[in-house]
Order: sequence, then C-alpha cells, then structure tokens
Amino acid sequence: VKRVKLFQPFQQKSVTMHNRLGVSPMCMYSAVDGHLNDYHVLHYGSLALKGPGLVIIEASAVVPEGRITPQDSGLWSDSQIDNLKRVVDVIKSQGSTPGLQIAHSGRKASTSPPFLGDYVVAESDGGWPDRVVGPSDNAYAPHYAKPHAMTIPEIKQMVQYFADAAIRADKAGIEVLEIHAAHGYLLSSFFSGNSNKRTDEYGGCFENRIRFGLEVVQAVRAVWPSNKPLWVRISSAEYVNPDPMGEDPNGWDIYQSCRLAKEFKNLGVDLVDCSSGGNIHGVKYPSVPMYQVQFAEAIKRKAEIQTAAVGLIVEGTDAEQILEKGQADYILAGREFLRDSAFTLVAAQALNVDIQWNKQYSWAVKKARRHNTTKTG
Ligand code: FNR
Repeated sequence: VKRVKLFQPFQQKSVTMHNRLGVSPMCMYSAVDGHLNDYHVLHYGSLALKGPGLVIIEASAVVPEGRITPQDSGLWSDSQIDNLKRVVDVIKSQGSTPGLQIAHSGRKASTSPPFLGDYVVAESDGGWPDRVVGPSDNAYAPHYAKPHAMTIPEIKQMVQYFADAAIRADKAGIEVLEIHAAHGYLLSSFFSGNSNKRTDEYGGCFENRIRFGLEVVQAVRAVWPSNKPLWVRISSAEYVNPDPMGEDPNGWDIYQSCRLAKEFKNLGVDLVDCSSGGNIHGVKYPSVPMYQVQFAEAIKRKAEIQTAAVGLIVEGTDAEQILEKGQADYILAGREFLRDSAFTLVAAQALNVDIQWNKQYSWAVKKARRHNTTKTG
C-alpha cells in the first residue's frame, strides 16, 4: 500500500502532529484588549474539529503597540493566558496540535482591520499612531504612521518582551511556537536594507540587519521548553526585484533567507515557515498556485533545516506532491480553511485516504464531499 505522506504523523521533539496539513496563522481582528473570546473558541474549534494536524493561532502581539489593529490578539499580559488556554484546550480536545504565532507589527501598527478599510487608527479610536516603531523613521506607505526609530535599549527591551510572551504561551499549553519574522512586521523590517536604514550594529550589512531577529530567537529558545518545537516564519523574498529567485543583496532576497535560516538552525529553530512579501508597499506579487513552494525548497536544501510551504496550496494532491518531492516538510493553508473548514477531509478524499475525524460526524457521513446527489437525494 502506498503511504500518503500528507497523512503521516509529523514529530518534532516531544510533539506529534497527527498529519502534515496545518492551519496557517490568520488574524481575526476580533480580540478585546488583546484577549481572545468566544469567537476564537468557536473559530479555532470549528477548524480543529475537522482534522488538521496543527492549528496555529493568529499573530499575538508581545506588547500593545505591536498589534496591527486594536482588535489583534495579544500575549503581553498574564491576564491573556486563561482565554488563550480555552482555545488551546478546544484544539487539543479534537486531537489537533495547538500552535501560536508571537508578533510585533512594527511600522505597520495602529491600522484598521482590513474588513473596515485601510486607514491609520487615531489615538481617539484606540490606536497609537504616535507610538509606532520601526528600524528607521521611514513610513511603510504614505498613508501609514511615521515610526520612531528604535533605540538600542528599546531593541534589547523588545527581545525580552518576545521571551516573556513565549513563557505565557507555554503556560497556556501551546505546543508549537512560531516567531513572526515576515510580512514587513518588526523583525522582517529590520532584515531588509530596503526598510532598515540604520547605521549602528542593527543596520547596514546582512549580519547587522539580522541581529535583532537572532537575538529574539535566542532569547525565546532559552525560555521555550527544549522539548517543544520553535518555528520562525520569514518573508523569503520581497519582490523589489520582481524575479522571486532574483537577487537584492542590499534589500532582501532568497539568498539572504537561506543564510538566515542556517543561523536559525544553529540557534535551535526546528522549522522555517516560508512565506514572502509584505515589506515593501506597492510591489507586484506572483499570485499563482503554490508560488512560495520554491522558497521552502531552496531553504530546506541550502540551510538543511525543515521547512513549511504555504500560499495558494488548495489541492490535497498538490500538498502531497510537495512532500513527495521533498520540497517541504509541512504544509500550511490559510484561506482554503476559511472557505472550507473540512479542507483536511477533502484533501484526504482526493488522496484516497480514510482518516479518523470526529466520530460524532463520521459514523453518519463517510465522505467529506457528496457524490451522486441525484441518487441519494
Ligand atoms: C493571514 N496571514 C497571516 N500570516 C501570518 O504570518 N500571521 C497572521 O496573523 C496572518 N493573518 C492573516 C489573516 C488573514 C485573514 C489571511 C487571509 C492571511 C497569511 C496566511 O497565514 C497565509 O500565509 C497566506 O494567506 C497564504 O496562504 P493561503 O491563504 O494562500 O493558503
């Protein structure tokens, strides 16, 4: 019998994900003062119910000013642990693995939830446009807040805030922790010379631009239990050079991403989650199926670290091919899970795999998708 890789367990350290298809982190912009609530229990519970091996809870800010919107999830306070634990327990109750992304939005902070528009949220509406920070004082886009260039003591303090959030994530029962170092948020804006214009030891050459990110990884790894996996999501390229695999040595490109991934590996990172873009306003994105898989493949080969592939992976057969070809070790999907929370089941069906999903449904419904509706209707 052919073994379908997508539905083999994936073990890292003491954590075993029951398959290799997980829910990518997605902000829901529905928290209150950074606290999750019933909406999140329902949302993440409904995803976990239908069989993904991993559910990564949305970007959760390590300080209030590190939220993208005032409605973002946060993990800057002990008061946020209990509500997060409710979500974690619901995910675990369905046999899935709870993951969480910790984040700082940097110069993309204090903006509106996308479903309300695209504007800077004023102080009077709960925003903090005067307390937005970045590597330098250049704004992400003309209509974004002008950031304050972080001082070195502020950078050191922020490293500690990431570590503090990791401790809270562990207390809440999170099993896979992901550091958000992608999409133009704080850490990734330091990586790229296109956004980082500093002249001190945190800017300029590659080694200086990645310093902050490495310090965060090191501090988090030191407090995150050694038997639990640590992942980092990066933007593998940022499309200033429109060729995704092209060079942008003074900005950010796949070559620097491979070097960075090697550094992460040396610091004990277990997997690099390979996304792209988000750092430069107005560049063009290749929006074709599986457009980021090439990054996961290059990083896996060159840095010899496990990678996750993400981005327009919407067919079980495609997900399986990525694993079969050794392009990545884990598959994440975002929007497909929002369209159809049963994506795992649909993928299993396409691959002719009988998977165990919640018995309360499966005894009655043998397949995720209906067949021969005319005969059975
Ligand atoms: C996202 N994405 C995202 N990425 C991330 O690293 N942290 C986050 O909190 C979010 N939030 C978020 C919200 C929503 C509504 C969407 C649609 C996306 C990006 C997401 O995780 C994923 O990488 C991309 O959507 C590409 O994968 P799909 O959706 O094509 O499978």
